[in-house]
Amino acid sequence: MKKKEKIASQISKLEEKYKDSGQDLSSYLDGLLYQRYLTYWDYIHLDTLLSLQVPRTYFPDEEIFIMYHQITELYFKLILHEQKQLVDDKAQNLDFFIEKAKRINSYYKALISSFSIMIKGMEKEQFLQYRMALLPSSGFQSAQYRMIELYSTPMENLVHHTERDRFSSKNTVEELYEHIYWKKGATDFTTGEKTLTLKQFEYRYTPRLIRTAKQLQNTTIYHKYLQMPEEKRHNKELVKALKTLDMNANINWPLMHMGSAYRYLGSEKGQVEATGGTNWKEYLPPSFQKVVFFPKLYTNQELKNWGKQWVDHIFNPEKIKK
Ligand code: HEM
Repeated sequence: MKKKEKIASQISKLEEKYKDSGQDLSSYLDGLLYQRYLTYWDYIHLDTLLSLQVPRTYFPDEEIFIMYHQITELYFKLILHEQKQLVDDKAQNLDFFIEKAKRINSYYKALISSFSIMIKGMEKEQFLQYRMALLPSSGFQSAQYRMIELYSTPMENLVHHTERDRFSSKNTVEELYEHIYWKKGATDFTTGEKTLTLKQFEYRYTPRLIRTAKQLQNTTIYHKYLQMPEEKRHNKELVKALKTLDMNANINWPLMHMGSAYRYLGSEKGQVEATGGTNWKEYLPPSFQKVVFFPKLYTNQELKNWGKQWVDHIFNPEKIKK
């Protein structure tokens, strides 16, 4: 087809398109004529993006801290973007499921390997000073982190492990939410008082989290997996991708993150207080949290030893590398 014929055919197709919705093609063509060319910086809102790093102190390393949190939140958004498609999918297509789980794992891989930016990339002296200006905010208040959990597994699996066997899908979302593991982490055991970090987070996000959990009843990724026909459920690639996801989200990322807490908050002279006021040494280790998204994929022994390598990770890193 010659160039002119091609353009004529495109115009007639456009005419059809606009006529169908009662629009006038000629006005749209005028719009096309007057429109500015799209630039890279406008398309990705670069100026806005680069204006979002606003330190609260004069310590240069605070900017690294802000930016790396923002980068992580964008990755969390990418993870949720895949999770939402998995949850919305009705077809139960095996390849689709595997593809999405692998994408999520590739995001976690980037997050886990880049966490050294936090662990090694800031001066401890600067950190200990600028973080005082950030109280009581904490990554603990990341709503996307909690959304990823809600999309992955039914809420009864997120109840604190010491009381998990007392709860099931028969409990209401509100009941389960009250006993979710992360609330215990931010509550003073002796007084039962919630930390300010937790109170503010609940005030801001509880309605959204409850609404999301209700929408996800019977449709989390774990439900989707269990609802698959048996032969698909036993597919080796799928099982491997889901186990990797579980370990990335609940062991490998938490271990890297915990490494940063040891680097900046651990001290021979006694513990430095955590920003969010948690007793972090007892709260953060994966083997203490025992959060498992897809429990039926593991043996009882594996579940019992969940995240146990954290001791080596912190105290004998050479052993892990072997
Ligand atoms: C120097 C770097 C970091 C240190 C020292 C640190 C420290 C901590 C501590 C002590 C807690 C326990 C809650 C509290 O008392 O505040 C926590 C929780 C948390 N932080 Fe960080 N953090 C760092 C970087 C990050 C980054 C980059 C993110 C990314 C968003 C993040 C996300 C989280 C999340 C999601 C939790 C809750 C974890 C859970 O409930 O298991 N943190 N952090």
